[in-house]
Amino acid sequence: MPFTIKPVTPTFACELIGADLRVESTPQMAEATMQAMDAYGVSVFRDQQIGDEQQIAFSRLFGPLESSPHFGRGSQEVVRMKYPELFDVSNLDENNQILEDSDRRRAYRNANLMWHTDSSFQPGGAGYSILSARVIPGAGADTEFADMRAAYDALPSDMKRRIEGLVVEHSAFYSRKLVGFEFTEEELQRRRPTKQFLVQTHPRSGRKSLFLASHASHVVGMPVEEGRALLKELTEFATQPQFVYQHKWRVGDLLLWDNRCTMHRATPFDDFSERRDLRRTTVVGDLPLVEMAEA
Ligand SMILES: [Fe+2]
Repeated sequence: MPFTIKPVTPTFACELIGADLRVESTPQMAEATMQAMDAYGVSVFRDQQIGDEQQIAFSRLFGPLESSPHFGRGSQEVVRMKYPELFDVSNLDENNQILEDSDRRRAYRNANLMWHTDSSFQPGGAGYSILSARVIPGAGADTEFADMRAAYDALPSDMKRRIEGLVVEHSAFYSRKLVGFEFTEEELQRRRPTKQFLVQTHPRSGRKSLFLASHASHVVGMPVEEGRALLKELTEFATQPQFVYQHKWRVGDLLLWDNRCTMHRATPFDDFSERRDLRRTTVVGDLPLVEMAEA
């Protein structure tokens, strides 16, 4: 192992100590990190003074990366990120100023306060997300993670039987509407809903997980309200304190989570007066495609 593993709990979240990713971005480092992620679902390298290029290079060792669609950008077709692989997780505009109250990027990003998995509305979902902390506010803005493997394991057996094989439709339109963000017609065309199994089996660890998100609109083949009640019940169950790790950010943190077996959400801070600048790279997911599995 190119680092020491310091678990937060015996089964969820860990710190990886002793690596400098500026000089140790190697396939061996990525494989060791994935092995730690198989066990703990979330991991953090502290004190990594890396730039955009280094973050992208390290992230590519885990697989192909998503490109940011830059939804909700300002009226100028200018974006703050230099590379399409970087998702802008900040409250800043293209001039590095705090976003205006009326800026639609605010509404779009407010959806991150709800429990979700990244890109669950895309076929295959997302694999690992990798988030680098460049500027953090003085208080608040923690990120919470829920262990969806432990939540699944703790479900009563009759609930496990009830949900096995169920399919859920995920839509970015659904989650954003909940926080008052309206997509343009062109944006809607780029984000069609997709279907995901409610119970997933992790391709590396073989462990089963609940697969939920604020993007989860309804259960396919079930009356909409009944399906939403089921999704709400499962989300409340899975986000009980015993399944949750709350990450308190430090500048230089490089945090990884596995979207296939965790959910996460941002927590509030004074985002009209304090600055927050985090940058995310996202590995393309490999969830089984429902249409293919049904064929
Ligand atoms: Fe997210």
